[in-house]
Amino acid sequence: PKAEFISDLMAKMTVDEKIYQTVQFTSDGTVTGPKSGDNFITRIQQGKVGSILNATGAKETREIQRINLENSRLKIPLLFGHDVIHGYKTIFPINLGMASSWDPKAVELAARIAATEAASGGVHWTFAPMIDITRDARWGRVSEGSGEDSFLGIQLAIANVKGFQGNDLSKNNTILACAKHFAAYGAAESGRDYNTVDISERGLRETYLPAFKASVDAGVKTFMTAFNEISGIPSTANTYLIRNVLKGEWNFDGMVVTDYTGINEMVAHGFATDNKNAGELAMNAGVDMDMVGGVYMNYLKQSYDEGKVTLAQINDACKRILDVKYDLGLFEDPYRYSDEAREKATIYKPEFLDASLEVAKKSLVLLKNNNQILPLKTNQKIAFVGPLVSDEFNMIGSWAALGDRTGLATSVKEGVTNYLKNSSNVTFDQGVEIQSAKRDWIQKAMENAKKADVIVAVMGERENMTGEAASQTNIDLPGLQKEFLAELKTLGKPIVLVLLNGRPLTLTWENENMDAILEAWWPGTRGGDAIAQTLFGANNPNGKLPMSFPRNVGQLPLYYNHKNTGRPYLGLTDPEQKYKSRYTDVHNSPLFPFGFGLSYTTFEYSNLTIAADKIKFNEKVKISVDVKNSGNYDGQEVVQLYIRDLVGSVTRPIKELKGFDKIYLKKGEIKTVSFEISSDDLRFYTLDMKFEAEAGAFDVFVGGNSDTDKKVSFDLVK
Ligand code: IFM
Repeated sequence: PKAEFISDLMAKMTVDEKIYQTVQFTSDGTVTGPKSGDNFITRIQQGKVGSILNATGAKETREIQRINLENSRLKIPLLFGHDVIHGYKTIFPINLGMASSWDPKAVELAARIAATEAASGGVHWTFAPMIDITRDARWGRVSEGSGEDSFLGIQLAIANVKGFQGNDLSKNNTILACAKHFAAYGAAESGRDYNTVDISERGLRETYLPAFKASVDAGVKTFMTAFNEISGIPSTANTYLIRNVLKGEWNFDGMVVTDYTGINEMVAHGFATDNKNAGELAMNAGVDMDMVGGVYMNYLKQSYDEGKVTLAQINDACKRILDVKYDLGLFEDPYRYSDEAREKATIYKPEFLDASLEVAKKSLVLLKNNNQILPLKTNQKIAFVGPLVSDEFNMIGSWAALGDRTGLATSVKEGVTNYLKNSSNVTFDQGVEIQSAKRDWIQKAMENAKKADVIVAVMGERENMTGEAASQTNIDLPGLQKEFLAELKTLGKPIVLVLLNGRPLTLTWENENMDAILEAWWPGTRGGDAIAQTLFGANNPNGKLPMSFPRNVGQLPLYYNHKNTGRPYLGLTDPEQKYKSRYTDVHNSPLFPFGFGLSYTTFEYSNLTIAADKIKFNEKVKISVDVKNSGNYDGQEVVQLYIRDLVGSVTRPIKELKGFDKIYLKKGEIKTVSFEISSDDLRFYTLDMKFEAEAGAFDVFVGGNSDTDKKVSFDLVK
């Protein structure tokens, strides 16, 4: 019936009406660029709009839908889209934080709850997940993704798609997901937002496309193009990517939307002569919907009349858009998502807030813990200091949809007070602001710090220092914070640094001078509670870094799965240090590697074994390792498996993540963890661009981070 219904409807539509479906207009909500025209309501009355960006809330969306349905000729329901990135009202940790959980189930749950809340507020469509691979911490948008690795990226992309879309889109608590930004937006040169990308097809397919392909296989219904060009061709008119790969090779049957004014921007790219020409290039390339650019709205009919775009192209775009409206059940009941009573009963449900706490507890990464200074003891005198110590506003991070930044969001101070009940042993002082030089505050903070047994400094970035259009060349702890830490250090007390931030920072000085460092990202609505529970040991940190932390910004881009080069540097033991691929002023390795994160307990790996030293194509081999909780606390460990293909028809990375398992071990407990590697897991784009494995020798590394050197080996034979 769907195909029949859509084709009957399209038979009644004029070419203009088909084009109107491809138009997305912005309401008065958030804008991240120029706005569509002011005659928003008139256009809706005339049925000239297919989708609305940023209208939210059951009441507002219902009203806009009503205006459309009561006035337009064909009464085709509007589609409401909004950026629900890491929560709608109940906010979860930023995506890079959630990726640190290495827990797809947790990520799926967060997306499920975000969808449930958003759907009750009339939202049909989220522009998430962002599945760009990010290897350069200068890029502000690293906070929105899952980090530097495509294997981890794939698992979390699938989890997000499942979480948002559920298994039945017509339910009133599921929404359309959108795989973005297609493609390689995270590879912008120098980490500067919107900047040029020049990349080989092999690089694109190996690193940047796998999570997109996995999203298609998981049933994602929409895609968003990227602002950047790739090797001279803007993504927004990239026929190869959209028509050949996405809609051809991958059989994607959903719809493709631009990123905002991506069509118009092709004029500045020097790819189109004017907006009209840009619209033709986008339509020819397979872009179905124009997000707020107004180009399809203003010029597509003329382009059609001139034969620059075809009816088949317009029909295809229109059909894809009507299809998703149908899938959502909007033709059956256009108001099904806009229900004020349901919205009221759904938003901020206690169990959603509890889930945000649980996910936050999984996303914290312990980077250092000298002399087991953590967990803190409740009878210690503790001076909490730092510009973010009482801050609620930044806690939920950037792009936090309709999340409450003042009331419900818990600061560290609130979290600690909630946890301790009696807080007579603790003090809270800002000391400095992140960016202004109010030095007089430091004195009071110093006085309290002097009297304390331990100092906890809560520092980091403001939420708008990462995210879109927030690239930076300096990723040190900003402002006076480091200076303040240096002053605190003169007191000779142990200092715990708790970081609230959206990107890997350069922490070389902090690592040398602080006793403990807890990376808390922006942990969401219940973030303060998650941090307090972790500092006092009610939660044992179990997150692992999804991005390498550089020693300094000059190392960027930085990622664990790099190539060996012809002159690999073997580190300080290398007898010949000159003429090697290295920096002369800093080590090649990151300060904290991908996959790294400590626990209050310790884990020992032993008995790494492989079931065979040879496998044939289409066979599997089992790899096992014993992991022992050898410390004093129960805890969780992410056991990671990496492979290295020693020789290939094209060179291969020194390590590639191929499996991970997050396990819980009671103190003293030992578990055997097993993985299976098949010849399919060894595939890559060979010299002649075939995706296949090649016979030869492989190393398999297993450990608690990407720097592990415990290995076994096997051969893949014909
Ligand atoms: O979804 C976003 C995108 O990631 C960046 N530009 C604006 C879009 C809609 O808000």
